[in-house]
Amino acid sequence: MTIALGDIGIMGLGVMGRSLALNMADHGFRVAVYNRTDSVTRDFAMQAGPEQQVRPCYSPEEFAAALTVPRKVMIMVKAGQPVDAVIETLQDLIRPGDVVMDGGNSHFRDTMRRAERLAAEGVGFLGVGISGGEFGARTGPSIMPGGPREAYEAVRPILEAIAARADGQPCVAYLGPGAAGHYVKMVHNGIEYGLMQLLADTYALLKRILGLSNEELVEVYSSWNEAELDSYLVEITAKIFARRDDITGAGLIDLIRGEAAQLGTGVWTAQTAMDLQVPSPNVDIAVAMRNLSALDQERRAAAVALGSLHEREHRTAQAEDAAALLTIEDVRRALFAGMIVTYAQGFAHLRTASTVLGLDLRLEDVASVWRAGCIIRSALLRDIRAAFRRQPELANLLADRDLAGTIASRREDLARTVRAAASTGVPAPGLMAALAYVDAYRADWLPFNLTQAQRDYFGAHTYRRHDQEGVFHTDWFAEEGGS
Ligand code: 6PG
Repeated sequence: MTIALGDIGIMGLGVMGRSLALNMADHGFRVAVYNRTDSVTRDFAMQAGPEQQVRPCYSPEEFAAALTVPRKVMIMVKAGQPVDAVIETLQDLIRPGDVVMDGGNSHFRDTMRRAERLAAEGVGFLGVGISGGEFGARTGPSIMPGGPREAYEAVRPILEAIAARADGQPCVAYLGPGAAGHYVKMVHNGIEYGLMQLLADTYALLKRILGLSNEELVEVYSSWNEAELDSYLVEITAKIFARRDDITGAGLIDLIRGEAAQLGTGVWTAQTAMDLQVPSPNVDIAVAMRNLSALDQERRAAAVALGSLHEREHRTAQAEDAAALLTIEDVRRALFAGMIVTYAQGFAHLRTASTVLGLDLRLEDVASVWRAGCIIRSALLRDIRAAFRRQPELANLLADRDLAGTIASRREDLARTVRAAASTGVPAPGLMAALAYVDAYRADWLPFNLTQAQRDYFGAHTYRRHDQEGVFHTDWFAEEGGS
């Protein structure tokens, strides 16, 4: 169907672009679309229903002319160079006052650079994190926009209409200037990595220590999803264990190779957390384990050289005892504690980044936007949102009264679960990192007086003291008689 002028234009008709365009059209917006390959545009226009006002455009010029002014354009191409290429194409066709959005997983530094370049031409550039995959984009994603406020206001009705809803509110909010939106999406993905690692850990423990079958795993994760663990990732985990292979009819999960791939956002989250000196070990270990999982050949060789501890017949009596003490309920409670810790690290990261990079984030809004539509949506985010509403400047979720209570009451479950994993040799690095983080975060004494002494010993890096103000250096060699 041909329409006069589009309310919004989408450039890039991959899976996400197509799904968003249909979502917008469902909500009564007139959508102009353009893809580099004409046949993709044509096929898409034929796929759209007669009631959906979609206008296919076959050149960037036609696309720009097909939009109401000021234009609103959403770029939906692969992150990296393709985004720059599209902006280059648009540059001569757009005018001051137009709004350009990048809906991909772009690196926040690229978004800063592009925003600056377009701002010089009077064009409002929004970095828009979009989560929820193909299904989310089609039916209601979680949307994380950042950039100039007035640019957001211009597209706000569209974004609010297509977003997921939680408790009747749209899961979209203006998050802050510059690259705030893409930064939040990056950390979303880092948390996603951390939660997926915890789920991988629990799967390993339930399968290798407690001997659960795929059918039993479906039951366990489904029932977990009914209560406090209610979340997208737990929900799909149950469904995955239930899935049979189309080709062989066997349980699909057992046919999939255990080598985890990654596109990069988890690494970026870990890297930026390191740069900002924000501890986020659950993201770090999740990235490291994906890397380790890919070392297939090396792991096979090591299993021979080192022996595979977690095979039942190789277990010591002690390991058997620890395994015998583990219950499904322990694992459930440990997982919930691990989830809280993982979100806590992500929000602590955002809090520091907001200050250092001037992102001006309201963490309550971030929690609110993540309540539905995204990969890390969970019932827990309601409690997290409440925590930031009570204390907007809360340094760490573990310091929140309610969440601290939950963690305290689960510390033993986490420890028992980690003990069983350590004794039997089933790696559970996400849960282990979470336990170490909790214990270190609440420690009134940590052994880094030794680290400081060592640094001063070998590098004269100086240290501070409990009993006196100032910076000190000791001549460590004097006592050794100058040796
Ligand atoms: C989302 C997802 C999405 C994508 C991840 C996958 O929020 O919808 O996070 O952005 O699926 O980037 O990341 P990896 O390939 O790195 O696991």
